[in-house]
This record gives sequence, C-alpha cells and structure tokens, in this order.
Amino acid sequence: MLKDKIALVTGGSRGIGSSICTELAKAGATVIINYSNSKDSAEEVLKQIESSSGNGEVVKFDVSDSNEVEQSIKEIIDKYERIDILVNNAGITRDSLFMRMKENQWDEVFETNIKGVFNCTKNVVRMMIKNQYGKIINISSVVGEMGNPGQVNYSSTKSALIGFTKSLAKELGSKNINVNAVSPGFIETEITDVLSDTIKEKYKEIIPLSRFGQPEDVAKAVLFLASDDSSYITGEVLKINGGLYT
Ligand SMILES: NC(=O)c1ccc[n+]([C@@H]2O[C@H](COP(=O)([O-])OP(=O)(O)OC[C@H]3O[C@@H](n4cnc5c(N)ncnc54)[C@H](OP(=O)(O)O)[C@@H]3O)[C@@H](O)[C@H]2O)c1
Repeated sequence: MLKDKIALVTGGSRGIGSSICTELAKAGATVIINYSNSKDSAEEVLKQIESSSGNGEVVKFDVSDSNEVEQSIKEIIDKYERIDILVNNAGITRDSLFMRMKENQWDEVFETNIKGVFNCTKNVVRMMIKNQYGKIINISSVVGEMGNPGQVNYSSTKSALIGFTKSLAKELGSKNINVNAVSPGFIETEITDVLSDTIKEKYKEIIPLSRFGQPEDVAKAVLFLASDDSSYITGEVLKINGGLYT
C-alpha cells in the first residue's frame, strides 16, 4: 500500500505516534521516527519495525525548535530525496484550570502543538509541491472540538489545528497534496494514564462504545489518510472517538 513511500512521524517514540510508525511500516513505508527525549523508546519502535522486515530510522529533534527542525528535515530530504507523508503527531498537555494557568503552561503547549506543526510542515511543503505529491496528517483531538475543563491551552491548540488543516488543504489541493486531520477521543496512552480511575469510569459512561480507544485505532485511520485510497479526501477531520462527539 505504501511501498517506496517515505514517511516522517513526529513524536514517534511513544503512544499513538509509535503505533502510527509501525502501521505505516507494515504497509511498506520507510518510516523516520522522530523523538525529542525518549531515545530508548524510539529505538525500540525501530527494532520492532525491523523485526517485521520493515525499514526506518530514528531522528532526534524538538519540533518546537525551528533551527533543529530545518536542519533535520534537510538531512532527511538529502538522504531519501523526498518525504511523501508527514504525520504531525508530537503533542503535549500542561493541564490546569484557566484561573491557575501559568504563562509558561500556555506557551509550552502552543510551542509544541502548533509552532511544531508549523515548523515541520513549512520544511516539507516546498519539496512536496515540487514533487506534486504529498500527504499531511495532523493529530488534533476531541477536546479541540468539544472543549474540556482544565485544558483551555491544549484544546485551543487542537482547535487551531483544524483551521490549519482546512486552510492548508485549500492552498495545496491543486498540487496533489492532501491535508487532513484525525481527531482522537480518549486513547489509552501516557497522556490519559494521568486520569484517575473515577474520571476514566465517568468518561466511559458517556462514550457510546463504553471504552477508551487504543493507539492502533488512530494508527489505522492515519494509514488510510496516508494511502492513495483516500486520494479524494482533503481538509477533512476524521473522528476516532467511540462516538463521544459527532
Ligand atoms: N492519548 C489521547 O487520548 C489523545 C487524544 C487526542 C489527541 N491526542 C494527541 O495525539 C498525539 C500523541 O499523543 P499520545 O497520547 O501518544 O502522547 P504521549 O504518549 O505522551 O506521546 C507524545 C509523543 O510526542 C513526543 N513529543 C513531545 N514533545 C515533543 C517535541 N517537542 N518534539 C518532538 N517530539 C515531541 C514524545 O516524544 P519524547 O518522549 O521523545 O519527547 C512522544 O513520542 C498528541 O498530539 C496528542 O495531543 C492524544
């Protein structure tokens, strides 16, 4: 399905990102697994891919650092000659009720979740336009659509990603570049591990499928959007939330 395709997944070392890496590699893509801190986990993802006869490599950069991103993406393009698929997955939370939210909690979340997407996309778009081919997939969130107390900063970034996706899709459609987002609901990763059991049970009561999702549920949707099976879909936000918000 993705034979000969080169994919870059930001934040591929853990959680949803690691699952996206393995899913794209299983479909035949060469996967560049980005991480910023979790070197061992990123290498473990690569090992897993290679043990199933897949290809890839691990590349360290902080998505919020424009110089690091520019240099790293230049090196990837020099080596592989192109990037066909960019998955903007890296994201963080710094939760707090708005009344108590500190400026650094606001800034850190915007630097990673929004500036990071700007940095990475900016550095692949020119090459994608030249190749008249590209798939850009942004990982938004259900809380960017429905809001969530304690996450004014995070949900603002995830809503912004939807505007980013829809506008860029309109700019790049004529260049054969698809820009889409997936919007996961509550998925079992380290981000949701911090929720107490009581809160988890409360959410499960309002999720029609009565459970949290798995990283693979998101990865499979990303695979679809990364493949040519979705070539007539752009500017779309695909919800993967067990029916929580439709
Ligand atoms: N889990 C959910 O319920 C859920 C729901 C909706 C949306 N999402 C979104 O899905 C994405 C993945 O979430 P997750 O739950 O898998 O989170 P996670 O388990 O905490 O993993 C986050 C990933 O992002 C990377 N990362 C963080 N800051 C980075 C930076 N500055 N530069 C490069 N990489 C960075 C981390 O790598 P290092 O450890 O190397 O820093 C890690 O690989 C995020 O965008 C999140 O907002 C998650």
